[in-house]
Parts: sequence; C-alpha cells; structure tokens
Amino acid sequence: MRSISDPFSPVAKSELAIQGTEPIPAEVYHCPKYFELERDAIFKCAWLQLGHVCELPDDGAFIVVPVEVAKTSILITRVKGGELRAFHNVCPHRGTRLVSDCAGRATRFTCPYHAWTFANDGRLLGAPDADNFYFDVSASHLPEVAVDVCGGFIFVNLQREPAQTLRQFLGDLAPELQKIPHAQATTFSEYTYEVQANWKLTYDNFQENYHLRFIHPRSGAAAGGPENPFGYPEGYAFHDPHRTQTIWSNPNPPVKPFQAVAFGALANSIAAAGGNFGVNTYFGVFPNLFVLGKGMTPFSQCIMPIAPNRTRSIIRLYWNGDDDSAAKRFGREYATALAMDIHSEDRDMIERGQQGLESGAISHIHFQSQEVLCRHLYNQVDQKVKAYQREQGDL
Ligand code: FES
Ligand SMILES: [Fe+2]
Repeated sequence: MRSISDPFSPVAKSELAIQGTEPIPAEVYHCPKYFELERDAIFKCAWLQLGHVCELPDDGAFIVVPVEVAKTSILITRVKGGELRAFHNVCPHRGTRLVSDCAGRATRFTCPYHAWTFANDGRLLGAPDADNFYFDVSASHLPEVAVDVCGGFIFVNLQREPAQTLRQFLGDLAPELQKIPHAQATTFSEYTYEVQANWKLTYDNFQENYHLRFIHPRSGAAAGGPENPFGYPEGYAFHDPHRTQTIWSNPNPPVKPFQAVAFGALANSIAAAGGNFGVNTYFGVFPNLFVLGKGMTPFSQCIMPIAPNRTRSIIRLYWNGDDDSAAKRFGREYATALAMDIHSEDRDMIERGQQGLESGAISHIHFQSQEVLCRHLYNQVDQKVKAYQREQGDL
C-alpha cells in the first residue's frame, strides 16, 4: 500500500480489469423476474444485517425489523442470560403477524387473534382451548431463524440452519469488523429514506467516487485535494462476495470554524472511548450493507430492497456514551445533518437512473475502472442468481 505522503495515483485500469470489462445488462436493475430470483438466490439465504446490539441492551428487550424483499418481518429478542434469538414475526396458529411495535421490552408476546402466548425464546406458553386441536399444541414454537453478531452488528439468516456460519460468511472481514468503533457503540443517530430505485442502483451510488466532483460541490463531499482532485480511493480489495476500499484522506481538508467545533467534540469523545482514527476502510458486506470504519463518524448504511424499483436506506452514525455536553450534541447532530445533506444530493440522481433504465432505451450500462466495486456487486449477484437458476433447472 502506498504511503499517504506519496504522490497519489489511482489504482491502474489494467489492475482493476480483473473484475471484467464488459457492459452490464440494464434489465437486472429493473426486471421484476430478476428481483424475484434475487429474493430466493440471495436474500432468503445470505446473512442480513438487521440491527445493532445496543438496540437490545438487556434481557427482555426486543426489536422488529421488516424484510420486505423476503416478504417477512423479523422479531429479535434478548432472552434471560443475554442470548439473542430471532424469529419470523408470525403466529404458528394461523400465521397472524404477532408483534406490531418496532421495539420495546417484553418477555412474552400474545397474538392479537386468538391469544396464543409465546415466551421471548419462542416457546408456546399457552393457547386457549388447546385440547380442541388435533395435534400437540404445546410443542408449538415461533418459526426461528439464525442470528449472530459481528462488530456489534446483528445479522440474521432466514434459514434456520444456514449453509455457512456468520464467521464463515464474513471470512477475513470478520476480525476487521470487530476492530471498528461500531463494535463498542452504545447508541446511534439514524435516518431512513425511501428511493424510487432498485437496491443495486442505490448501493452503487455509494460505491464509486466518480460522481463526487459533479454532484457534491455544495456539501463538500467532493473531498479531493491537489494530490487527488477526484478523491479516488487508495486501493480496492475483493473478499469473495464482499469488497473493501481504502478511503483516501485529504491531509489538509478545508474546515470551517463551526465544523472545527463539531469535529473537535467528536474527536474528543471517540478518543476518550479508546477509538481509533486510523481505520479508513469502507467495508461492502454482501449483499446490502456498507460500513465506513472511519473513526470520526462511524457510519453504516443498510440498503433494503422493497420492490424492483423501490428501496429503503437505513443510515446510522454510531456513538459511544451519552451526548453529555452541548459541544458533543452539536457534533453528533452536525455529522448526521451533513450525511443527510450529502444523500439529498445523491437521491435525485439515483431515481433518474432508475427512470432511464426502466424506459428500456438502453440494453447495457458501462462501468469504468474506478466503478469496479459496482461491477463486483453485479458479478456477485449474477453468479448467485445463475447458480440458483441452474439448481432449479431453469438455465
Ligand atoms: S392466529 Fe395467532 S392465535 Fe390464532
Ligand atoms: Fe454521492
């Protein structure tokens, strides 16, 4: 890896051709049939990040997370002894959605339809008129799915017994994710937004710096300096389905006085919590999460597909401890507002891309070498979709 003081030169085009050079079929970004295949080939069997451990700080806490792409809602609980469990939010009597709240504390859940009641470990505690059924009602259980944690993130796999453990799935990213500030976070700021665009188009917007200088001059996200005017990354790496890039840091960033107050407060708070400023890695965790390990504003974005042309983005900035001073509160609010500002600039372009692709006017799109992470995501998705089609005898 080159040193930060060396003159910057982007990673060579020839080196990045390793992921291919061909145009990409446009239909994978809007075709309903392809979206259905992604549902079965990817989202029903990959580990999906659905939460963070600080959302379930103690026994009895629960969260409910909609996963529209898999047509389900997942209930995650922390049971006595601290273990996490996860279930489809579905009553085994006649399938009614069990819990309506998004989060809270409860050690038991009662179905609103016929009052079957379940413990937060999924066991049936009681069912009215149980003797009138034609099977052993007492053996009923909430439909359970696999859950595990890495780097503070809660991952769920919709298969009860996944083909890979979370550690196997994350591979060499697992130890790296455990080192980032998110792993120690006790709270976070969040905002979510819906985009009228395919999930891959939404994700790709955050995987390339090619657009920064054209649409972000107002928010300052262009982040280039004389050495690297386009803010291109220092390096890229591919880890089976996952990918990383090393973000280039401008050694002399333009900082306005009020920004110095905000960033100073965040820096002090992270240093006090033993945080690491040196981590400059972007982790693209397959299929739909990316994490920015940068110490100042530890960031994650989970990109949840809703429909072929509709996506929800969940953006979080993670913090350690309370915002117990005005400067700290300002720092956190400013960092969140800045992220929102940048994304408000992105959103229109993502939706315009979807509109153009849905017109059917072009059969293919093109990625340059510095859009290699977008190409890698497409490659991974398409490999999995084709493998699934072969398994089903459809190819
Ligand atoms: S559907 Fe839940 S108790 Fe009947
Ligand atoms: Fe952007």
